[in-house]
Amino acid sequence: MIETVELTKTFNSRGWTVEALRGVNFKANRGSITALVGPNGAGKTTLIKIISTLILPTSGSAYVDGFDVVSQAKEVREKIGLVTVSDRLMYFRLTGIENLVFYGALYNMGLKEAQTKARELLDTVGLGEWGNQPIMHYSTGMLRRLAIARALMHNPDVVLLDEPTLGIDTTSSRKVRQLIRRLATDRTIVLTSHLMKEIEELADSIYLIRTGKVISSGTPAEIRSMAGQFAEAFVPTANIPAEMEKFVLRYENGNALIRGPEDKISTLTGEYTAVEPTLEDAYILLAGESTADFRPYQVKRGGAWGREHPF
Ligand SMILES: Nc1ncnc2c1ncn2[C@@H]1O[C@H](COP(=O)(O)OP(=O)(O)OP(=O)(O)O)[C@@H](O)[C@H]1O
Ligand SMILES: [Mg+2]
Repeated sequence: MIETVELTKTFNSRGWTVEALRGVNFKANRGSITALVGPNGAGKTTLIKIISTLILPTSGSAYVDGFDVVSQAKEVREKIGLVTVSDRLMYFRLTGIENLVFYGALYNMGLKEAQTKARELLDTVGLGEWGNQPIMHYSTGMLRRLAIARALMHNPDVVLLDEPTLGIDTTSSRKVRQLIRRLATDRTIVLTSHLMKEIEELADSIYLIRTGKVISSGTPAEIRSMAGQFAEAFVPTANIPAEMEKFVLRYENGNALIRGPEDKISTLTGEYTAVEPTLEDAYILLAGESTADFRPYQVKRGGAWGREHPF
């Protein structure tokens, strides 16, 4: 189980301050998959890095199976397996098996035990044939699958997966999702992903994070129901106000197919079809913003607030 209490993280560099986490209360239970969802820069990776003891929180606390990530970091590290996005922890001249065995050695595994486990995990992630190749020959997705295998070498109780299917092909992603599901039966799994279908398929509970704060949390069904009733309609593009552009699915001959909250759609046209919101719909409504309306929220150190938080 993972729990964080009023967790904050402020990065200071080059005279700028970024409040990446601003009082996050997060909980992930054993036997289930908990997803962190939110726009780029929301703070998902920062939260995962704190839980996995890679960086220190500024204030607040975080616990993994009751162990404090700051004062009991060693115990926490023994419990967790981590898949990160920018992975510099592999040796490119070593083979897949050698990389995994090296990692096993860091966890005091015996050579034979580590080799057996490495082969088994390479098969699980579909790299069985590649185990004896130096990993500089691997593709992006293959390296990512190797990272998943590595995270499982010491059979951790808690697995933190930061965008585990990033860059992995369709068939292999499905296998990775099946693996994650299987792992969840007796482990605590935390997952981030920008793919709402993936979240819908895997997550037992979801935390929607934006600019360092949890803006909603619940089961996928609960998050969907927070979006209320949705509707779809074709309306002339010219009638769509700027703040509703994020609901447009596509443009066609001067018209737009728009899908959004029923009360908003009904102000555009009387001819619409009521639909149930998907998780993606709910996300777009609750957390969604395009890069165009993203406002930086850095503040100058020691000085007045430069630009305000959007929230
Ligand atoms: N080492 C660092 N130094 C300074 N700022 C940082 C550092 N790491 C992260 N940040 C900032 O903290 C904020 C949160 O970043 P984080 O990587 O946690 O976002 P994220 O939710 O994982 O985004 P993405 O979906 O793009 O992976 C961002 O504004 C980012 O610029
Ligand atoms: Mg991230």
